[in-house]
Amino acid sequence: MTFTAEEIQTLNDELSTQTPQDILAAALDKVDNLAISFSGAEDVVLVDMASKLGKPFRVFTLDTGRLHPETYQFLEKVREKYGVAIETTFPDAAAVQKLVDEKGLFSFYKDDHKECCVIRKVGPLRKKLSTLGGWVTGLRKDQSPGTRADIPVIQVDGAFSTETNQLIKFNPLASWSSEQVWEYIRSNDVPYNKLHEQGFTSIGCEPCTRPVLPNQHEREGRWWWEEATKKECGLHSSK
Ligand code: ADX
Ligand code: SF4
Repeated sequence: MTFTAEEIQTLNDELSTQTPQDILAAALDKVDNLAISFSGAEDVVLVDMASKLGKPFRVFTLDTGRLHPETYQFLEKVREKYGVAIETTFPDAAAVQKLVDEKGLFSFYKDDHKECCVIRKVGPLRKKLSTLGGWVTGLRKDQSPGTRADIPVIQVDGAFSTETNQLIKFNPLASWSSEQVWEYIRSNDVPYNKLHEQGFTSIGCEPCTRPVLPNQHEREGRWWWEEATKKECGLHSSK
């Protein structure tokens, strides 16, 4: 089914005052072939919420090949606890080989992170999304005032829809704060990535993520050698 711009606007108006659980339930009801994208960080709350809704749901992750051991262990823990297959997409081997042969393993510190992110994250995401009608993300406005302040709870994904596949993107946690996410994790006994106990707030690939100090913004732990406005990797652009 294809949604008109008006229908998306109406749904956004309706859903934006609802709880993440209600938004997730609507996503599972309204869109066929939907999957939750799980990074192995605090977006685990979406997996917990989906399992409590009692509806069938799917989860996928992008294994860049550069994740922390703790993240791999956590992905496995979530798979076991929730009894859900974590559909894993890997980068194109030839593209990784070419990059590493030509520029080594840490080119992102010298050039910028875009080239590596396109190969290890965005390409695999495009491949996965071409098989789906919708995806659910853990994006929140408070993660990045500079780039994520206007995230709606539902949108047509302008970056990954194609002429033949309208892709709907749901962001059920858009209006939740980090405090609300962690309150949910604690009060529902949700498992979490051990890196959070070591000062990591936002978690991505190992070479591009570091812990932050108290009161430092979470995004400062990502691609810290680059300007704040560049701290997106292409998974989430509206156009
Ligand atoms: S990123 O674009 O900077 O890497 P971030 O780490 O903030 O994204 O995560 C935001 C949301 O993007 C996650 O909640 C998840 O929905 C999706 N996401 C990020 N990384 C991955 C990944 N490796 N696999 C699947 N989904 C991911
Ligand atoms: Fe490569 Fe770093 Fe992007 Fe991961 S976050 S894909 S290691 S540049």
